[in-house]
Order: sequence, then C-alpha cells, then structure tokens
Amino acid sequence: MIESFFKGLKDILDQKYILVEEIDKAPYLTDWRKRFTGKAQAVVLPGSSDEVARIVKLCASNNISIVPQGGHTGFCGGATPDGSGNQIIMNFKRMNQIREIDIANQTITLEAGCILQAIQEKAASNGFLFPLSLGAEGSCMIGGNLSTNAGGTNVLRYGNARDLCLGLEVVTASGEIWDGMKGLRKDNTGYDLRDLFIGSEGTLGIITAAVMKLYPLPISQWTTLVAVENIVSSIALLNLFQKRATSLLTGFEMMTKESLDLNEKHFPQMANPLQGKPPYTVLIELSDYESEAHVRQLLESILEEAFESDLISDAVIASNLSQANAFWQMREHITLAQAEEGANLKHDITIPLSSLDSFISETDKLMRTKFPGVRIINFGHLGDGNLHYNIAPPLGMDPKIFNETHEKPIHELVYEQVERCKGSISAEHGVGQLKLEGLRAHKGAVAHDLMKTLKRALDPQNILNPNKVVSI
Ligand code: FAD
Ligand code: MLT
Ligand code: ZN
Repeated sequence: MIESFFKGLKDILDQKYILVEEIDKAPYLTDWRKRFTGKAQAVVLPGSSDEVARIVKLCASNNISIVPQGGHTGFCGGATPDGSGNQIIMNFKRMNQIREIDIANQTITLEAGCILQAIQEKAASNGFLFPLSLGAEGSCMIGGNLSTNAGGTNVLRYGNARDLCLGLEVVTASGEIWDGMKGLRKDNTGYDLRDLFIGSEGTLGIITAAVMKLYPLPISQWTTLVAVENIVSSIALLNLFQKRATSLLTGFEMMTKESLDLNEKHFPQMANPLQGKPPYTVLIELSDYESEAHVRQLLESILEEAFESDLISDAVIASNLSQANAFWQMREHITLAQAEEGANLKHDITIPLSSLDSFISETDKLMRTKFPGVRIINFGHLGDGNLHYNIAPPLGMDPKIFNETHEKPIHELVYEQVERCKGSISAEHGVGQLKLEGLRAHKGAVAHDLMKTLKRALDPQNILNPNKVVSI
C-alpha cells in the first residue's frame, strides 16, 4: 500500500521534490516557536495546482492525510504534523510565481507560496501598496496568511487577509480544482466559498492561488511613539486619532513597560527612546496622499491636543525613515525577545475596546494572585482591540517546566476572562492544535457543531489537516 503510494507520488513529482530522509524532512517538522514537533512519511513540494490536485487524489485513495505548510511561522501548530508518522506535509515554497498585476483593477494574482515580503516589494515597484504586514513577512507565505486570515499592523486601516482577498483557487479534499479567481469586489452568487476557505487553516481545502487587492502607495508616512499612563487614556487617544486623522491613521500599536523591558534585555540597541519608561508606549503611524507637510502638521496638532487633554505625557516623532523603521523594529522585536527568553504562553485575543480596561485589570489581578511571579508581556494591535497577552515564567523558573505545568490553567484563566468580556480567544493567529480545546469550550456548542458539520461535508475522509481547528 505504502509502496504503491510512493510509486504514485513519483508519477506526479520528480524524486527530488519528495523528501523522505530524516535529515531532509527535519526542517519542516518543527514550528517557528519550537513549540510543536511532529513526524511525517514525506514532505512533498508540488510545483503547480495540477500537481497539488493529483497528490490530493492519490492521498484520498490511500487514506493518507495532508498537512499543508507555508512558511511554518504560524503560532498554533497548524502546519506541524502529528506524531503518528503517517501524514505527509505539502509545502508550497516552489509555487511562488506572481502571475499578474492588473493596474486598472488594482489587483495582484499570486501562487500560494509567494513570500509576503516579496509581494509587498513587487507591489511597491509597480507604485502600489500591498498592506498586509507582520513580523514574519520575510518568511510567511500568502497561502498561510489566507489560511490563518492573518492580521498584523495595518488591519486598522486596510483589514485582515480576508478583507484583502478577492479571489481564490482551491484544491478540494477530493482533488478537484475550484477556480474562484475572479477579481471582483461584488459577487452575490450564493454561498461565499472564498470566505469559507479563508481562515480554515488547511482543514477544508488547499489554497493554491489568490487574487489580492492593491492600494495606491502613500506619499508620506509619519510615525510617533507616545507615553501613556493607562489603558483608558490609550483608548481615548485612539478615539482622538480616529476622529481627527480618520483614514490617515494606519497604525496604532500598544506596548507595556514589561514588554519593552524584555525587549531591551535581549536587544539593548532597541531601548525605548521615551523618557522614564512609561507604563504604556503607543506607536502611531499616519499615512498621507496629499503632502509631507500636511501629514506632519496634522500629527503635531493631534499630539498637541492629546498633551492638552492629559492623554499623553511624552512623544517622539521619527525625524526620518530610518528612525521610523527603528520604532517599528522595537515593536516587532518583542516576539523575538520572547523567543530568546524561552518558552512562554501566547494569547492572541480581541476584546471590545469598551471592555479592555476591565479585562486587563481583572486578568492581571487574577494572574498575579494565582500564579505569583509570572511576567505579563502584554502588547499588540490596540487599534483592533487585539492584545497579545503573553505570559512568561517567573524569573529563575525553567520555561519548559513552566509551560508543562501552567499551560492549561493559565489558558483557561485568560479564556474565561475573554468570555466574560465577550471577546475572542483568537484574533489573528488561528486555532491549529494549540486552541483546539479552547475553541471547543468557548466557541459555543451550536457554532462548534456547525463547524464540524462543515468539516464532514467538505472533507468526509478527514484527510485535510485532521485534528486542527476541530476534531470530527
Ligand atoms: P504556516 O505556519 O505554514 O501555516 C499556517 C496554517 O495555514 C496551517 O494550518 C497550515 O496547514 C495552513 N496552510 C498553509 N498554507 C496553506 C495553503 N496553501 N492552503 C491551505 N492551508 C495552508 N500573525 C498575525 O496574524 N499577525 C501578526 O502580527 C503576526 N506576527 C508574527 C510575528 C512573528 C515574528 C511570527 C514568527 C509570526 C507572526 N504571526 C502573526 C503568525 C504567522 O506569521 C501567521 O499566522 C502567518 O499567516 C502564517 O503564514 P505561514 O505561511 O507561515 O503559514
Ligand atoms: C505580533 O503582533 O507581533 C505577534 O502576532 C504577536 C506575538 O508574538 O504573540
Ligand atoms: Zn499580532
């Protein structure tokens, strides 16, 4: 059986694109965080949608399940195989062609394995902005971004991966190719299949290509760091910027003192330029299509109002592009600092902005009482109500042991508070295997059952990334 499967694979792919030796498979078996490691019979590297479809058919007839994989930067173990050694990994790195830029339609047509940064660069060289932006953009792929419905730092203005997608090509669990590659901004022909596959983390279909929206490149961007005393003032500041800058507001990121202290510990060159280590540092970006003077004046005038209303106590405006980049680097390096520090517990939650203060004060209190000494590394996309409420072990405690003993109760504490505040346990990273139990417990029984019904309908053999998102 296995021999005939491999013979079938060799009929589809050149031998060099079927990795079976342990040394060749190893780089694909462990996720970016080194939180999950699995086994696989083989890693396959298809070069076209047709090859993907033929491999899926072969897997279906041999009852072998497939773990689709992009850059393997996901935080929830979605692209890591299980420990059985029976699955195959399908990695998309060979499918990295940018097929077309349609200037009039303002769209870009891509294969699933295109690296996000390469897409941004291609768009920019054609005078466009491709606004999806996140810390892993140098290695994550558009297929992975769509499958996780990635967010990042520009959601406030341009939306998440779903909002940027107009068309998809998907290989179904039976190995059919669904061509939904129309670059339309309106299409009400029945159920929205595109939106069903986006965010489904490879459990309902395999994304092989996409049509994505482009935007004009702004003429000028201004970035500032401001010092804020508490979360209530941070939200009031956000509301002030939303009112005064409207659609020119393209970034609003929050970093607590604890998260920046950790950053500075590992990357001293990225120390906070604001005086006195404020409790909250907010990074704000405005993007303008009129002129540099216009946006600079607007930024200064809003900051002046914020000072007068006592919302902020200090501000540094980036005086050039390299300083603006340094501000963003400081923000993006918190994740890397956490990785340097060792294992930690990640939470990727959204809370309505009106309940954020209650969430943070109550959860901080409970966390410190029940788990003395833990370090709360709270930062995130405040403009979207999206907190990365990450928990690091007490100083001196072995991070691995901390994760083993504290993972369940700490996740549960946070998820209960999220539910109390009518939030979501995943804003942008998805569910994968990490939040399988969290989703079952907190999504609501009706929603969870509907998801399982969809999974059974679209993948009756359960060969597409089984036991991720939902177990059937
Ligand atoms: P992978 O990790 O390879 O896969 C993710 C999921 O998608 C898996 O379930 C996989 O099976 C599935 N999948 C992959 N390709 C396909 C395909 N072609 N068809 C069907 N299913 C597929 N995420 C955010 O949302 N916002 C952030 O700000 C953010 N910042 C990050 C910063 C850093 C430093 C890192 C390391 C990660 C960050 N992430 C962030 C998480 C991660 O980068 C995103 O989830 C990203 O979208 C994953 O893309 P990938 O190509 O690495 O996907
Ligand atoms: C980010 O926004 O930097 C990541 O999504 C958050 C994280 O590392 O938890
Ligand atoms: Zn994030």
